[in-house]
Amino acid sequence: MSAIQCVLDDLQQFHDQALRKIQESGSLKELEELRILFLGKKGSLTTGFLKKLGQHPPEDRPVLGDSVNRVKEALQESLHNRISVLKLNEEKKHEDSLWLDVTIPGARRLIGMEHLMKRVQKEIETLFIGLGYGVKEGPEIEDVFHNFEALNTPQWHPVRDENDSFYLLPDQILLRTHTSPVQIRTMLQQSPPIAIIAPGRVYRSDYDATHLPAFHQVEGLLVDQDISVAHLIGTLEVFVRFMFGKEKKIRLRPSFFPFTEPSFEVDILWEDKSGKSVWLEIMGCGMVDPHVFEAVGYDSESFTGFAFGMGIERVTMLKYGLTDIRDLVRGDLRFSRQNR
Ligand code: DAH
Repeated sequence: MSAIQCVLDDLQQFHDQALRKIQESGSLKELEELRILFLGKKGSLTTGFLKKLGQHPPEDRPVLGDSVNRVKEALQESLHNRISVLKLNEEKKHEDSLWLDVTIPGARRLIGMEHLMKRVQKEIETLFIGLGYGVKEGPEIEDVFHNFEALNTPQWHPVRDENDSFYLLPDQILLRTHTSPVQIRTMLQQSPPIAIIAPGRVYRSDYDATHLPAFHQVEGLLVDQDISVAHLIGTLEVFVRFMFGKEKKIRLRPSFFPFTEPSFEVDILWEDKSGKSVWLEIMGCGMVDPHVFEAVGYDSESFTGFAFGMGIERVTMLKYGLTDIRDLVRGDLRFSRQNR
């Protein structure tokens, strides 16, 4: 093989290798390194071929020079093209990273909802406000005077037992066991006529499927002249029909509470799951006992009144068909959402 052919072969080999490297390069930085390596001032083409041109016979130099130049141009073009391709790729990658899908649903925030108990309490308040009653509150920490004594509940009464109530100071201060002390507080502040309801939290040492140690009651009190059991029954009928439906029937059963005389339990006629009618107890009530009027300084000859008290949990359970009172306080969102 002639000397010139050898050089031309080398050149071809260099060209093929360089071209492959350029095609395979993955970044602009790498490509720039290849450019310097192949075509730079101290690059392979210059040192390996151009500078050696002088060593060849003069008649061979034009052919060789031409070939070296064509390789140089071919590599430059290939570099150029590869730069364009890599730039496009990089731009696309950048664009992809910026791409935003405006159709993806946004982060959802849970909207809070009223607890079932609160809803029922508000319904009860709405009705009684409509009947001209005021809404009163009293302290949850009570003394035995307001919680028991003024309500004609003597020391021997079982509800005063240590085991049934939460005393903070034995025989003096306790968590109120019912909302009835708000009757006393109201009557000590105002003179008749009085028409109030008192919703609020109360406490007893109880815990099972139908009892919670902290639960809620609504107390009612109406005092004026010539108030009779007929007024009480009429009021309760309006209440029951408003809460549970127009067709609902109630009955009063004789009972005993120290602060009312006579006293009654109120039952509501309910259809159970099998369609059988049953009487269910929903509250206690009665005519205010004259001893209570005496305790607050009212003239029991001039005034009469009725009172009632019910558990809001009980009303809620009946209204919504709940079987376990503890569902109301477990804080299980599935329960709350279901009653939205
Ligand atoms: N305070 C009674 C209780 O907690 C409920 C009650 C019964 C309230 C009769 C009343 C009433 O005002 O007249 O069991």
